[in-house]
Amino acid sequence: MKAYALTSYRDGGTLEWLDVPRPTAGADQVVVEVRAAGLNPLDRMVAAGQFRQLIPYRLPLVLGQELAGVVTEVGPKVHDVAVGDRVFARPDINRIGTFTEAIAVDVADTAPMPAGLSFAEAASLPLVLLTAVQAFTEKAQVRPGDKVFVQGGTGGLGSVAVQVAKHLGATVATTVSTSNVELARSLGADVVVDYRTQRYEDHVKDYDVVLDTLGRDETLRSMKVLRSGGTMVSVAGAPDPELAAQLGRPFLGPVMWLMSRRARRAARAQDAMYRFLFMRADGSQLARLTPAIEAGSIRPLVGHTFELGQLEQAMALLASGKANPGKIVVEAKP
Ligand SMILES: NC(=O)c1ccc[n+]([C@@H]2O[C@H](COP(=O)([O-])OP(=O)(O)OC[C@H]3O[C@@H](n4cnc5c(N)ncnc54)[C@H](OP(=O)(O)O)[C@@H]3O)[C@@H](O)[C@H]2O)c1
Repeated sequence: MKAYALTSYRDGGTLEWLDVPRPTAGADQVVVEVRAAGLNPLDRMVAAGQFRQLIPYRLPLVLGQELAGVVTEVGPKVHDVAVGDRVFARPDINRIGTFTEAIAVDVADTAPMPAGLSFAEAASLPLVLLTAVQAFTEKAQVRPGDKVFVQGGTGGLGSVAVQVAKHLGATVATTVSTSNVELARSLGADVVVDYRTQRYEDHVKDYDVVLDTLGRDETLRSMKVLRSGGTMVSVAGAPDPELAAQLGRPFLGPVMWLMSRRARRAARAQDAMYRFLFMRADGSQLARLTPAIEAGSIRPLVGHTFELGQLEQAMALLASGKANPGKIVVEAKP
């Protein structure tokens, strides 16, 4: 079968179509025929070698971090999923590779596909949905009535994070560019700041939680809108030592401690917390959100769809940074 793979880290990553063997299911795995796969900035980052020191990927590496599809084989220890079931998943970071026709996924990373969604819509959700939930329920504890600030509220992550924060009962402020102001409101944001014409500091003050999706200077800038005792969860800023432990590379802890020192110090200076999140696969977390998806409280936002064979174009659009609002998804014919 065909797979879209990283074959070399040279020149920012060489991506090629390869012929690879069809997978078979391990004891706790299911083989899923991929009907759709979502694209994420992470795909570009992996191709560019930004994870080389963190995750020992072997090349060629089939890219792709999430999928929706149909189960075609179940491993001998899998009892609650059957051939023909529709599932969606973000496979474990060590077992990525959804840009292909079929993939073996740990069953624990899968969840039944929410009713009423197309494969493309379902494939757009797992990575960003898990990121938002882990940010707001694990790194920070968002409670009803809390105020949450999400940077980039119509991006792949931001569009879902706004809705997850609303689902948890928060008041949500977000930044978007001018053409996306109405869209952000329709996703439920209470305060929408056009970052091209306004300063969010003038509208967003004393917030309980900030989701930093931008990194760089924006990490420290947006931290200032936190109340005393508030929490910044960053998915794009400096990694902290918890990431080294999470990836099973504790020797990198001191490096990450140093990398995040400035952000942690700035947070401490205003009696707040800085925490970095690198999301992880978790099928049961996806399943717990399914009722909210089926009720329409969390809606996927797919901006562009391509056929699986057009991954070059899809990846070029991702790299251009001009795909927003929403996510890019590739679809495969059965
Ligand atoms: N650590 C993790 O586990 C994790 C998980 C998911 C994502 N991420 C990271 O989170 C970031 C966002 O991911 P994504 O999928 O949402 O990317 P995306 O779909 O490209 O969205 C980026 C968003 O940022 C907005 N933006 C750009 N400049 C801005 C500014 N100065 N102020 C406010 N908003 C601005 C864009 O809005 P306009 O297009 O309207 O300008 C767009 O909506 C990426 O860096 C990604 O790697 C990390």
